[in-house]
Amino acid sequence: NPLQGAQFTLAAHRINQLPADQGAEVAFAGRSNAGKSSALNTLTNHKGLARTSKTPGRTQQMVSFALPPLGDGTEARLIDLPGYGYAKVPEELREHWKREIDLYLHRRQSLRGVVLIADIRHPLKEFDRMMLDFCAATHLPCHLLLTKADKLSRSQATQAWAAVRKTLGEGQAAQMFSSSAGTGVDEARAAVMALLHT
Ligand code: GTP
Ligand code: MG
Repeated sequence: NPLQGAQFTLAAHRINQLPADQGAEVAFAGRSNAGKSSALNTLTNHKGLARTSKTPGRTQQMVSFALPPLGDGTEARLIDLPGYGYAKVPEELREHWKREIDLYLHRRQSLRGVVLIADIRHPLKEFDRMMLDFCAATHLPCHLLLTKADKLSRSQATQAWAAVRKTLGEGQAAQMFSSSAGTGVDEARAAVMALLHT
């Protein structure tokens, strides 16, 4: 597993608290409770790495995880972004994260691509669409994980995936995924590595 050995570096409340903007970075984005932190743990094969929770709004920081350097010595990181759109998070905090995520996407030079996580049962809500549109407009590659695939039958999951796939643009791909069942893990790891090498 090329993502093995990830280590927590820091949790930032603002983008200027993130590690120095150098090397290659991939961000995990998605709606609150979609399964971002779980996906990070599954992909890095490290159970307690990112904190997960049944309660939406768990991750309220931008959390940075260092990976072993790439083959050419380039520094590599994964960033767990706060979930978007959970109503019970105070308005002020939601506004704060909206601003910071926007700044992060616009300014972060080391950002190579986005892993967008969406629950396969409710894919492509407004936030997901915005993120895909933003990525398309700025030529930032995006890999969509349709997670919690274990919650649907195989044929339902395949159907949902096929419907989503049709709506994607250039530089965008989608796959079925499940952190619990281990569906699509190898494919997702390869996709993250490909983004880091972009
Ligand atoms: P925030 O940090 O609140 O934005 O959420 P998150 O996107 O990081 O979600 P998290 O990984 O904490 O998971 C939310 C809930 O979904 C938890 O109860 C997880 O156990 C559950 N979950 C995550 N991935 C899967 C999956 O693939 N299958 C199933 N059945 N449950 C999952
Ligand atoms: Mg989280």
